[in-house]
Amino acid sequence: MRGLTGKNVLITGGTSGIGAAAARRFLEEGSRVFVCGLDGVGETVEELGALGEIGGTVCDVSREDEVARLLAEAESALGGIDVLLNNAGTSRREPFLEITAGHWDTVIAVNLRGMFLVGQAVSRAMVARGTRGSIVNMASTNALGGEADYAHYNASKGGVLQLTRTMAVELGAHGIRVNALCPGYIRTPLNASIEAGLDPGFVAAYQRDHIPLGRAGRAEEVAAAYAFLASDDASFVHGAELVIDGGQLAIM
Ligand SMILES: NC(=O)c1ccc[n+]([C@@H]2O[C@H](COP(=O)([O-])OP(=O)(O)OC[C@H]3O[C@@H](n4cnc5c(N)ncnc54)[C@H](O)[C@@H]3O)[C@@H](O)[C@H]2O)c1
Repeated sequence: MRGLTGKNVLITGGTSGIGAAAARRFLEEGSRVFVCGLDGVGETVEELGALGEIGGTVCDVSREDEVARLLAEAESALGGIDVLLNNAGTSRREPFLEITAGHWDTVIAVNLRGMFLVGQAVSRAMVARGTRGSIVNMASTNALGGEADYAHYNASKGGVLQLTRTMAVELGAHGIRVNALCPGYIRTPLNASIEAGLDPGFVAAYQRDHIPLGRAGRAEEVAAAYAFLASDDASFVHGAELVIDGGQLAIM
C-alpha cells in the first residue's frame, strides 16, 4: 500500500485476532505501531518486535481516564499519531429475551463508548498537530443486519457506523479521513470462545450455507482492508464502510 511507510499507527485491541494481524501488517508496511488491549500486550510486543518498532500498554477503552493515559503513552512513544485503528471490541451470544442490563451496558461501553472516547481523543490530537490522518472504526456486518442472539452487539456496531459517518462529516475539513470496516465471520479468539459453546456441525453448516465463499475469513484478510483504508491508495475514500464477508450479505 502507498503511504504507510514511517506512519505512526495506534491500534486498540491490537493484542489478539484482527488487531494483532493488523499490527503485523502495518509493521510489514514499514509503519511504527502502538497497541493496547486488556491483556497480552507484552507477548504481542515481543512476538512482533523483530518486524519493526512496536510498543503497547494495557488499557480499558471504555474508561475515560485510561484512554487519556493511552493517548499520552502512545504520543510519547510515537511522537504523534497518523493512523488510528479503532478496533477493540467484545461480544456475547445470548437471546434478546435473556440479555441483562449489565451485559447490555458492557457491550455498549466497550464497542461504542470506547470507540467514541478513543476516536475523539485521537481526533483532538490530530487537529491540534495539524495531522491529516486516517481513522478506521471497526463495525461489523452485524451493523447492517440483525443477527439473532446479538442484540447488544448489533446495536453497538450499528452505532459505530453512524459515529463513523458523523466523524467523517465533521473531520473532513481538517483533512482527517474516517471510514469503517464491516467484517463478516472471521476466525479469531473472539469467535473461538463463542464457537466453543456450539455444535461443531452447526459451525460447519453455517459456513457452507451462509457464506458464498464457503469459509470463515482470516484475520489477515481484515488487516489488509485496514491497510488499504489507512493508505494513500484510499485518499478519496471517506465516510464509507467496507464489507469483508465472503459474500454473506449478497445472499437474498
Ligand atoms: N471476529 C469476527 O468475526 C469479527 C467480525 C466483525 C467485527 N469484528 C470486530 O473486530 C474487532 C476485533 O475482534 P477480534 O475478533 O479480533 O477479537 P479478539 O477477542 O481476538 O480481540 C479483541 C481485542 O480487543 C481487546 N479488548 C477487548 N475489550 C477491550 C477493552 N475494554 N479495552 C481495550 N481493549 C479491549 C482485547 O484485549 C483484544 O486485544 C472487534 O471490534 C470485533 O467486534 C470481529
